[in-house]
Amino acid sequence: MTKPIPVKLEINGKRHELLIEPRVTLLDALREHVGLTGSKKGCDQGQCGACTVHVDGERVLSCLTLAAQVEGRAVTTTTMTKTKGGVVWNASVARMRGSSSSPP
Ligand code: FES
Repeated sequence: MTKPIPVKLEINGKRHELLIEPRVTLLDALREHVGLTGSKKGCDQGQCGACTVHVDGERVLSCLTLAAQVEGRAVTTTTMTKTKGGVVWNASVARMRGSSSSPP
């Protein structure tokens, strides 16, 4: 077992300080350490895209990215939110686009 290291992440505009092993992927950090389960673990091999997040506005496969690699960068995840009409909308992406409530 590798000694855990402190990693500071900014996720959806909120700072998180984690104590994790250096080999922890961004996907596992998001899902297992921060509790954000919007990004899914599909193939875990960089082929399906289910784990896609944005890092400084660029698409990144979080299953192939170490959490420590994105320290100090802005991570935006898929955060599903139900609207009044029952439509599921990605609130984080809406904020990135400058929208407040409804999908395009
Ligand atoms: S889980 Fe399939 S690309 Fe990351």
